Amino acid sequence: MNEINKKYFEVNKDTWNKKVSIHKTSEFYDVEGFRKGKNSLNAYELKEVGDVKGKRLLHLQCHFGQDTLSWSRLGAKCTGIDLSDEGINEAKKLNNELGLDAIFIESNLYDVPKKVKGKFDIVFTSYGVVGWLPDLKTWGEIIASKLKKGGVFYMIEFHPIVWMYDFLQTPPKLAYPYLNKDVIYEEYSGTYTNSDAAILSKEYGWNHGLGEVVTALTNAGLQIEFLHEFEKSPYNSFPEMDKTEDGMFILKESQRMFPLLYSIRATKK
Ligand SMILES: C[S@@+](CC[C@H](N)C(=O)[O-])C[C@H]1O[C@@H](n2cnc3c(N)ncnc32)[C@H](O)[C@@H]1O
Repeated sequence: MNEINKKYFEVNKDTWNKKVSIHKTSEFYDVEGFRKGKNSLNAYELKEVGDVKGKRLLHLQCHFGQDTLSWSRLGAKCTGIDLSDEGINEAKKLNNELGLDAIFIESNLYDVPKKVKGKFDIVFTSYGVVGWLPDLKTWGEIIASKLKKGGVFYMIEFHPIVWMYDFLQTPPKLAYPYLNKDVIYEEYSGTYTNSDAAILSKEYGWNHGLGEVVTALTNAGLQIEFLHEFEKSPYNSFPEMDKTEDGMFILKESQRMFPLLYSIRATKK
């Protein structure tokens, strides 16, 4: 990890620690509902990952663990990692409180080879993850190194076209080139669960196109089974979206020019 990235990761970690303190009591994450048994996973990943019973599952960038613990409730043997120590502490508390058997480890994604032992049947990561990572080549190699032969990598992520928008402007404005390479710095008050929360979010991020993501995975020895792109999202990332019958969000018809999400399923050869 070079010194510049180290500085970026420290700022991001501090911001994510502050976010956890707000997110854990937010309506968005509905921890009370989760405690009562609500599964926090969305229909896309539930369908596309499939049966996890008895499988060893590594969840990268697990935030405060609700999705990891949802996989545990479905019978997976889970390990979740995240940069944020506050997130990992909260995840451990929830795990103990609910009597589940997940393991949570505070770790930068790039330290996973040092901090996480063993190999997994499934590596999973979702919604708002690759944008925190400067180097996808190493990301792909780490994923491949943590999978057993025949193991499955699954990701579902906001589409790179969505990240071409600057969401600090209202309405969001196209601001970043698809192939943007430079680090993007943003500073704003609040967080996506509570825009009026009394925190200052300071974030360094990187945009990654689909070609870069796919190449990182295939060069690391993963065989892509599918790459799906979706118009409907569980999250209302843009203002004034329409709600669909299945409880998702979709851009208004006149603005429906690009997908909001993509998912990739790949197998370790
Ligand atoms: C948007 S959240 C993931 C959201 C997740 N799907 C959820 O809602 O629970 C992104 C997560 O990535 C973590 N993160 C950011 N940079 C990281 C890094 N370099 N290594 C590991 N985790 C990182 C943050 O701490 C945060 O928990």
